[in-house]
Amino acid sequence: MKPAPMTDLYAVIGNPIAHSQSPTIHALFAESCGQDIDYGRILAPADGFESAVDEFRARGAKGMNVTAPFKLNAFTYATDPSEAAKIAGAANALKFVDDAVYAENFDGVGLVRDITVNLNVSLRDARVLILGAGGATRGALMPFVSQAPSEIVIANRDVAKAERVIAEIAPRSMVRASDYTSIERQHFDIVVNMTSAANASACPPVANSTFQGSTLAYELAYGRGATEFLRRARAGGTRHVADGVGMLVEQAAEAFAWWRGVRPQTREVIARLTVPLI
Ligand code: ATR
Repeated sequence: MKPAPMTDLYAVIGNPIAHSQSPTIHALFAESCGQDIDYGRILAPADGFESAVDEFRARGAKGMNVTAPFKLNAFTYATDPSEAAKIAGAANALKFVDDAVYAENFDGVGLVRDITVNLNVSLRDARVLILGAGGATRGALMPFVSQAPSEIVIANRDVAKAERVIAEIAPRSMVRASDYTSIERQHFDIVVNMTSAANASACPPVANSTFQGSTLAYELAYGRGATEFLRRARAGGTRHVADGVGMLVEQAAEAFAWWRGVRPQTREVIARLTVPLI
């Protein structure tokens, strides 16, 4: 008798990790696509990413999603990083094939897909304001540029950091850096909060007036209801607000397709995970 084929192993790794929705999302994808996978959670100590991944690979694992604080470690660990991972200097998905470790960064494409397909807001010719110049902005910048907006302004408390991100990733483009004061009276169609402020229940120093006449205010954090950023956006007069749940599900769908060769539907999964923004 032939031995039963082993169910392919995947997991999300991070610290903390108990809150992660990734196992739920991938279980729903696997069910809808008729794929047999086992997707778990791995809590690694802050200095234990590499050994935790080594151990998981020794069990025959096929891939991983990577969340904070390990996206830079994942990039360094990889033998074959994609162009998107190289640009961001960070990876959020790994694929293991024999001794090779392929790395991808799907955060930016997931965000663009959520905005343009799910929310039906076009980035083409739009004036885009990005708040923050950390890892999230690095990952999203090229996917945004490729949508041909008319302008992208990156506002950051530390303006030199925003200038560095632009010089490294998108020099000679329509992207420019700014402080928060100069954007108060400018008009933007789309405002995306890519700072980590919501993690500390804080808000970047963006004025309500910045949102006047804007189409969409998007908070990358998810599952927190109406953050201070989204409240200010509403008070300032933006037409639509969204949090990052759609981005979370879309980047997961990219990873699932990369691993399994089939792209799952995302709409129902997003609906199941959505919490009201009130
Ligand atoms: P990571 O690479 O993990 O995203 P990071 O490099 O520390 O982390 O970037 C976090 C981003 O959120 C930065 O742009 C940071 O702004 P500064 O560079 O000016 O520090 C931004 N950020 C975090 N908390 C913020 C807050 N309360 N208000 C405004 N910006 C904030």
